[in-house]
Amino acid sequence: MIKYNAESRIFIIETNNSSYIFKLNDKGVPIHIYYGSKLLNPDEIIIKGSIDKERLTLGVTGISKYTPEYAAYCKGMFDEESFKAIYFDNQSNVELSYKCHRIEDDLLALTLTDEAYSLEITLEYLVREDLDIIERRAIIKNNGNTMEIENAASATIHLPAQKDYEIYTFSGSWCREYTPVRCKIPEGKISFDTRRGVSSGPHHVPFFAVSNANFPANEQSGELYFGILKYAGNFRNVFEKNNAGVVKITTGINFFDTKVKLNRGESFETPTVIIGFTHNGYSGMREHIYDLEFNVLANKNNISKPFPIIYNSWYPYLFNVNEEKLIALIPKVKEIGAELLVIDDGWMIGRVNDKGGLGDWYEDKEAFPNGIKAISKKVHENGLLFGIWVEPEMLTEDSALYKEHPDWVLGYENRETTYIRNQRVLNLSRDDVYFFCEQTLDRIIEDYELDYLKWDMNRYICETDTTSDFYIKYTKNLTRLYKHIREKFPRLLIENCAHGGARSDFGLFEYCDRINRSDNADPIDVMKLHSGFADMFLPRYAGGAGNIAPSPYHLSHREAPLEYRAALGMTGSMSVGIDLLTASSDEIQKLKEYISYYKSIRPILHNSYFYKLSQPIDENTVVWEYLARDRRNAVVFIFSNGLNFASGLRSVKPIGLIPEKKYEVMGQVLSGDTLMKFGIDFFEGDCIKQDYYSKLIEIKEVQ
Ligand code: DGJ
Repeated sequence: MIKYNAESRIFIIETNNSSYIFKLNDKGVPIHIYYGSKLLNPDEIIIKGSIDKERLTLGVTGISKYTPEYAAYCKGMFDEESFKAIYFDNQSNVELSYKCHRIEDDLLALTLTDEAYSLEITLEYLVREDLDIIERRAIIKNNGNTMEIENAASATIHLPAQKDYEIYTFSGSWCREYTPVRCKIPEGKISFDTRRGVSSGPHHVPFFAVSNANFPANEQSGELYFGILKYAGNFRNVFEKNNAGVVKITTGINFFDTKVKLNRGESFETPTVIIGFTHNGYSGMREHIYDLEFNVLANKNNISKPFPIIYNSWYPYLFNVNEEKLIALIPKVKEIGAELLVIDDGWMIGRVNDKGGLGDWYEDKEAFPNGIKAISKKVHENGLLFGIWVEPEMLTEDSALYKEHPDWVLGYENRETTYIRNQRVLNLSRDDVYFFCEQTLDRIIEDYELDYLKWDMNRYICETDTTSDFYIKYTKNLTRLYKHIREKFPRLLIENCAHGGARSDFGLFEYCDRINRSDNADPIDVMKLHSGFADMFLPRYAGGAGNIAPSPYHLSHREAPLEYRAALGMTGSMSVGIDLLTASSDEIQKLKEYISYYKSIRPILHNSYFYKLSQPIDENTVVWEYLARDRRNAVVFIFSNGLNFASGLRSVKPIGLIPEKKYEVMGQVLSGDTLMKFGIDFFEGDCIKQDYYSKLIEIKEVQ
């Protein structure tokens, strides 16, 4: 609900459990007053005049309690800005004040203006009351002479003044994505960003949660603010505490090496940032984010059904794929019960390794004499779905595309070229390149009658063209491409791959159905990776070439039993990456059993909340609960994660069940209340004692 009190000039935004309040000061600048637990009497703030005047005024002492909702850089404003621009006369002082506002259902649009230069900035607040979420963005419109934007955040979020805040976000690298980072917001600034042309890096992700550092939120309780930027390009999150104790987070596009020119009449829209508040710690945060994903963001066609089980050629055969192998695989894939056969990298002309073969997107006729079309037909005739791998933004110099359009490729004539994985990047910021990619993808999807597309991206962007808003245009066209494919092929299943984790972002979330969580499928590492991934994304989105991976795993050389790998494969979107052509009949039989069992619990796993009943980073037993969103059924997974000192798990306490409801667990009928308070006790034989031990417990409603 959004209210405006014209007398006190106060805006009150309410969700089920939070209040967000700001006030126009005597100059018409919107000043943040409160964000947090829902106030029962927000009017008291207005009536009592309980707001410190220093908050409302821009001081010039250098110690400022001033809290503008959208801090335009101007004289006397020394803290991190939300907005910075240079006007035509070189002035960089932007002074914004209230012009008008509009409240339409769940949307507040507040327009501010710098009249001297005919600039207008509209701050939008879209309120998702039931989800305790507010979506914010800014729209900048220039009605004056040409100007240049040097920074335009999506939002600045002020937090209530208190001693210390703890940030929770992720850091990492290839195969070590989503490593939790916890640190205090110091007096000063700390920022997390990317400059690689992609949002998540995977070095940092455009996600954060913040709680009181002295009483940090935990899995089940505590106040937590969280934020997610819906953007697939360079981002920057700045956490700042100034010398007067004002704490704020400024989040948006990273304007590093970027300027946006606005001529008269032109506009610039920032991406949306999703902000939320919960009293229920990290599990509460995940519930809100998952509800948003299920109910609002995800593709309606695909989210309503469980994601099919993939068999992918990458781990067993790498670039060595051909017609003979694929045809031989079809009955094996059927036999184990997988539902979708995917030809990964290696199917295109000249793609025998990663040194060539990118850019033209036609099948290699030696490897596939009857074409990919024939494989697709055969796969479909056998009742399976069919998918293929692509990397549309990239090319290698042996391609016909490179010979035809050398000017489409990023790089400088007078500098040495940067190759990553031997490949170069198409300049997708150009519209002709965009249309080439669009036509290529349309052709492949239509010709091969694809049910699934694995959309990869295996290098960063480091040779930009000379346009000052290159990164923004690139991201815009990339998002446009995803949107085009999503809209044209609404039933196509799309995996946003990006070598695992490099595009784990909300800019593309609504256009894809699966995200490659990581290229690392080592079972012990996966527990840590999944724990972080699932803070942001539904576990059913946790993709990858082989979530049941070969053993020993090539990166760690670790061996783990098939049962353990299969149980772990069930916790995300299942994909099998084992060589079925050489697998023993025992292995095939076991896979068949695991997959058949997975199918029986998949409807719960693919429409559930996710609770961490232990922390995989610090504890030697990983316990995860998947609770159906109607709270009637749950599955608890237990994995040993390196047991020491005669340790072992003796009992488990699920959360989120309905206390009055009866559930059947391990042959007993108990109430939700007993299960959540007393827990599920393991008897001697059930104790989790050895390494690579996995156990699944089903909790089923009793009618
Ligand atoms: C990186 C992906 O993450 C892998 O799954 C695989 O598709 C390779 N690229 C293929 O080159």
